Amino acid sequence: ISKEEQLDNVYQGIVELLDNNIPYYNWTGFYMIENGELVLGHYLGAHTDHTHIQIGQGICGQAADRKETFIVDDVTKETNYLACSFETASEIVVPILKGDDVLGEIDIDSHEPSAFDSLDQHLLESICAKLAERL
Ligand code: SME
Repeated sequence: ISKEEQLDNVYQGIVELLDNNIPYYNWTGFYMIENGELVLGHYLGAHTDHTHIQIGQGICGQAADRKETFIVDDVTKETNYLACSFETASEIVVPILKGDDVLGEIDIDSHEPSAFDSLDQHLLESICAKLAERL
C-alpha cells in the first residue's frame, strides 16, 4: 500500500482507539491544515457541518492559532465556538506540531461537562507528537 494509504490507516486507527475505548470521548476526529484552513479528516461521531474551519474560528481554529492545547470545560460559556451537536458539553483540541508549524489537530467532544484533564492532554499530546514524526 502507498504511504498515503498507510497514513490513512494511522489516522483511522487513532480515531478508533480513542473513541471506542474512552467512554467520555463522544466525537473524535482529525482536522488537517490544507491551503491555510482546517479540513475535516477521519472522525467517529455525529455528522458535522464544520468540514472547513478558518484559523482563529471556533475552538479548533483558536487552538491552531495559539499552537497549544485548548480545553473548554463548558462550551456554552465559549463565545467563539462552532456547535457540532447540542449534546456536546466540553471539548479538547490538541494541535499536531512539527517544529513551529501546525499540521493539523485532534478534536474531541464529550457529552460530559469538564470531561478533559491533564491526563487526556498528555495522552493526546503524545499521540500528536508521534504522529508528527511521520508527517
Ligand atoms: N466545536 C468545534 C468545531 C468542530 S465540531 O465540534 C466537530 C469548534 O468550536 O471549533
